[in-house]
Amino acid sequence: MTRSHTPHLAPDRPSGPALRLDHLTVRYDTVVALDGVNLELDPGRVCGLVGTNGSGKSTLFKAVMGLVKPYEGEVTIGGIGITAARKSGAVAYVPQAEGVDWDFPVGVRDVVMTGRYGHQGWMRRARRVDHEAVADALERVGMTAFAHRQIGQLSGGQRKRVFVARAIAQRAPLLLLDEPFAGVDTTTQVALTEVLRDLAADGHTLLVATHDLAGLSQLCDEAVLLQGRVILHGTPDEVLLPENLARAFGASTEPQEVA
Ligand SMILES: Nc1ncnc2c1ncn2[C@@H]1O[C@H](COP(=O)(O)OP(=O)(O)O)[C@@H](O)[C@H]1O
Ligand SMILES: [Mg+2]
Repeated sequence: MTRSHTPHLAPDRPSGPALRLDHLTVRYDTVVALDGVNLELDPGRVCGLVGTNGSGKSTLFKAVMGLVKPYEGEVTIGGIGITAARKSGAVAYVPQAEGVDWDFPVGVRDVVMTGRYGHQGWMRRARRVDHEAVADALERVGMTAFAHRQIGQLSGGQRKRVFVARAIAQRAPLLLLDEPFAGVDTTTQVALTEVLRDLAADGHTLLVATHDLAGLSQLCDEAVLLQGRVILHGTPDEVLLPENLARAFGASTEPQEVA
């Protein structure tokens, strides 16, 4: 892990909030996964997304990525609609499960290079700037030595680093990370926390779903308690107050049924 990276990440500052959810409601058939979620994130911040299993964290990310269709409400990224924002590469996403066939013979460098596709023409010819972005991203997550390794030959923590590197290589103003610390060792968690803090210092906005309450203050400037809706959006200290945690974790995790 290096801290002596070049301060190259200068995403075009979007106008307006980095991310805005306006009464976002998502249903799966009769299950209301998100119920009128309002949220605004300012640029250059790390925001934790905290809630029980089934509280709607992954659904929120999927709605921003256009992978699920809202029943109601609106999402904007830097003041523009998600379709245009995604097309321009303004949002990078590290899913909870990568959906990757680990036996497929693909190298670490190639996975990270896919983060550059939005910057390349339809022929996807990598230019020098793409190679530099990939090398820099691998350096940031401490995976340079593994650049030519097959992805299937990595540990779980190393794979997480590679998928974070792919998001970094994209150089998107907004990064969404769905439980990046799940199943990784402490060394990787500490290292990734530092990487994410560095990205925010460079002006990126990060929304990070996490179960790690002990590391919340270290990682985040602010946090959201989610339980199908926003229970609280405040500082990590406010979110960690026992009475507030009880509102999210003490509450029923049963999804609401609607007629
Ligand atoms: N594809 C799906 N079909 C039906 N229900 C789903 C689907 N995905 C998620 N859900 C339900 O939506 C709710 C929120 O799930 P999810 O967004 O995955 O929560 P989290 O990521 O916080 O664990 C849960 O009740 C879950 O069972
Ligand atoms: Mg999830």
